[in-house]
Amino acid sequence: MAFTLPLQHRALVLKTIEEGLHLKHLQTPQPEPGNAIVRIEVASVLSYHREVYDGTRQYSFPMPLVGGVSAIGRIVALGPDATILQKGQLVFCDCVIHARDDPDTTFLSAIHDGSSEGSKKLMRTVWRDGTFAEYAKVPLENCIPLNEAKLCDSLGYSISDLMYIANLLVPYGGLRDIHLEPGETIVVSPATGGYGGAGVQVAVAMGARVIAMGRNEQKLARLKEHVLSGTPSACIEIVKMSGNEAADMAALQVFGTIDAILDFTPPHASNSTHLKSAVSALRRNGRVSMMGFVDRPMVPWTFVGNNISMKGKLMYERDDIVQFVKMLERGLFPRGEEFVDTQSFALEGWKVAFEAAAEHAGIGKQVVLIP
Ligand SMILES: NC(=O)c1ccc[n+]([C@@H]2O[C@H](COP(=O)([O-])OP(=O)(O)OC[C@H]3O[C@@H](n4cnc5c(N)ncnc54)[C@H](OP(=O)(O)O)[C@@H]3O)[C@@H](O)[C@H]2O)c1
Repeated sequence: MAFTLPLQHRALVLKTIEEGLHLKHLQTPQPEPGNAIVRIEVASVLSYHREVYDGTRQYSFPMPLVGGVSAIGRIVALGPDATILQKGQLVFCDCVIHARDDPDTTFLSAIHDGSSEGSKKLMRTVWRDGTFAEYAKVPLENCIPLNEAKLCDSLGYSISDLMYIANLLVPYGGLRDIHLEPGETIVVSPATGGYGGAGVQVAVAMGARVIAMGRNEQKLARLKEHVLSGTPSACIEIVKMSGNEAADMAALQVFGTIDAILDFTPPHASNSTHLKSAVSALRRNGRVSMMGFVDRPMVPWTFVGNNISMKGKLMYERDDIVQFVKMLERGLFPRGEEFVDTQSFALEGWKVAFEAAAEHAGIGKQVVLIP
């Protein structure tokens, strides 16, 4: 592999919301202290990427910017302060940026500039551009080495398959945050979405019994089938949300003691009563990881009576990524189609890719761009 950087490279640029993304030639970023220049092999596409860049979600970010989120690529150039990263190495490029002088200042490169003056400044000035490009500038600490010999040669994952790490990591951040233990029982609600489905997959790999809640029986059946085809020993139950709070609580309690909940309720489902039912079904000292964006979450009186802990969690920590990659390298996840079914598009196909991503979501499904 050549380690020379071309003067220019191709990237999907969002100049204004009205103009939308356009494929352009830009100057290739250069190595400086603190960064790596990565040749992007595969870039993840969110199920709601279209809504981010067409203004529907009203996310705050500076423009123009190169679109993207997390990616996987090969390092082609390194800042002088790199110590273990090597040119040619395959790395997961994490989009979650932390300020170096205040790691609590955080934002998502190319997606959202966070909630503080510091995060907005840092995105505007240094870490604005994303990975929908041939080359990207990535903070050294956001380049997580992937053992290609183990993951690709021994376990048989393709580099595109590995991009599914980006989906799995999000629920892993929440599950680790509430200290999910092997053998525990966790409710994932709703489980039929992209991150909800990924949450089921990760909780199973962590050795938990999973009760997947959802409103669509067919999707729940497919989810169970997918999990069992990849992990025949998995303990997975499904509960269809009925919209009746007491009935849903009773349906959950059939399965005995419930230790925890992972919730990915999207904002538009805030009025659904499933979270209240699930919290009512929790054991004393039960834990809840709140990862969806529920507007004014409703909790039952047992929230106090049963000492329930409810923690919000945005994404994951760097340490979670390192730990997650170890789980993958140890073979704790299925391979091939049982792991993920990927739809790939070139940069110029971004529009179709965004449409596909909105449809091709749920457990074991992802859409990627191959720059
Ligand atoms: N905390 C974090 O770090 C973080 C990171 C990424 C995303 N998120 C948030 O996580 C949420 C879910 O993400 P996702 O990828 O799973 O979303 P998604 O793929 O769009 O899935 C949405 C899920 O919500 C269900 N749903 C929609 N309307 C509902 C209603 N009225 N009642 C009950 N269930 C309903 C869907 O059920 P059907 O399948 O039946 O339609 C599906 O299971 C989003 O709000 C996203 O912003 C949080």
